[in-house]
Amino acid sequence: MVRVVLENIEKSFGALKIIDRLSLQVGDREFLTLLGPSGCGKTTTLRCIAGLEDVDEGKIIIDDRVVNHIPPQERDIAMVFQNYALYPFMSVKDNITFPLRLHKTPKDMVERKLKGVAELLHISSLLSRKPKQLSGGEQQRVAIGRALIRDPKLFLMDEPFSNLDAKLRVQTRSEIKRLQRELGITTIFVTHDQAEAMALADRIAVMDKGVLQQVGNPDQVYNAPVNVMVAQFMGSPPMNVLGGRVLRPDRVELKDGEMGGATMARDEVSRAAASASGDNVKVGFRPEDATFLVGGTDGIPAEVYVEEPSGTHVLLTLKAGENLVKVVMPAGYRAGIGAKGGISVAKGKLHVFDAQSENRIS
Ligand SMILES: Nc1ncnc2c1ncn2[C@@H]1O[C@H](COP(=O)(O)OP(=O)(O)OP(=O)(O)O)[C@@H](O)[C@H]1O
Ligand SMILES: [Mg+2]
Repeated sequence: MVRVVLENIEKSFGALKIIDRLSLQVGDREFLTLLGPSGCGKTTTLRCIAGLEDVDEGKIIIDDRVVNHIPPQERDIAMVFQNYALYPFMSVKDNITFPLRLHKTPKDMVERKLKGVAELLHISSLLSRKPKQLSGGEQQRVAIGRALIRDPKLFLMDEPFSNLDAKLRVQTRSEIKRLQRELGITTIFVTHDQAEAMALADRIAVMDKGVLQQVGNPDQVYNAPVNVMVAQFMGSPPMNVLGGRVLRPDRVELKDGEMGGATMARDEVSRAAASASGDNVKVGFRPEDATFLVGGTDGIPAEVYVEEPSGTHVLLTLKAGENLVKVVMPAGYRAGIGAKGGISVAKGKLHVFDAQSENRIS
């Protein structure tokens, strides 16, 4: 059983608060991704868990033990960093077994563990090579092998795929997921790539400016984002968010000028809370939850601004009043620049946020 609990941790560098009262629990064998924009404090959080930084306030508990004052090497954590430096003059074998040799592990045990890790990572045939004779993905696996060979309690990874090209990233990501399930090591994985976070995680923790915004499984975070930040950070292209006003409990009006004053019935598009009636709101919908009908008079009046085919679908950018709105259409769709029509949003797929706090209303 390896659980990690962060209790109200705070960390400042100088006068700058980098982590603000962060509380988070990671379950035994769980794969948790820590997701957020650049500079939001992800690496700092991992470094605090690993003991490479001290926290100013709060507790870090690993395996029911408060580790705040335990030095990094006694925390039994393996960490793979963004720039996983392999030792260039050592063979793959020596790179991987280095942590064991450092601890004077008996030779036969080193050999046995090496064999296990190499088979797991499919690098058995590469053991005598030097790092520069390996591809990026192979080097990555060697770095992971070096981290895993000590049977760590906890596995921390900080954007470990950032040196890989797009195709290899997707491939390596599947392998990491399989490996983590197979080994059952509690894992915290940092990324700023929402697709990567969704693909890997049991649960995602979304951070912004040092503050935890939402924790949930990928579906929860994607389908019920707690605020505009999470809504727009999850999904690519991001959710369309427009100004609006709740006319009645069952009707949202999109702000004049923004959408030519189009209104949407609740039963068609939302579950807007009655308590917000008359209040200013922000109205959001995902590009894949909307459709555009040329010549259509229903929904939001708009015209085609850009058409981008991708093979699997066509991404339309539409001009609706002053706004540019993205809508995903099926492959092969062509309307032509300037074509006029209406955007409709699928039933139940409208997200409504408070205009000031930007927190979710419904
Ligand atoms: N040792 C340090 N001294 C001062 N400021 C620091 C230090 N380390 C990090 N910071 C600042 O803390 C903030 C958070 O940094 P951190 O590296 O945790 O971000 P991150 O979420 O990992 O970002 P990225 O996705 O770019 O890696 C940044 O504004 C950074 O400049
Ligand atoms: Mg970082």
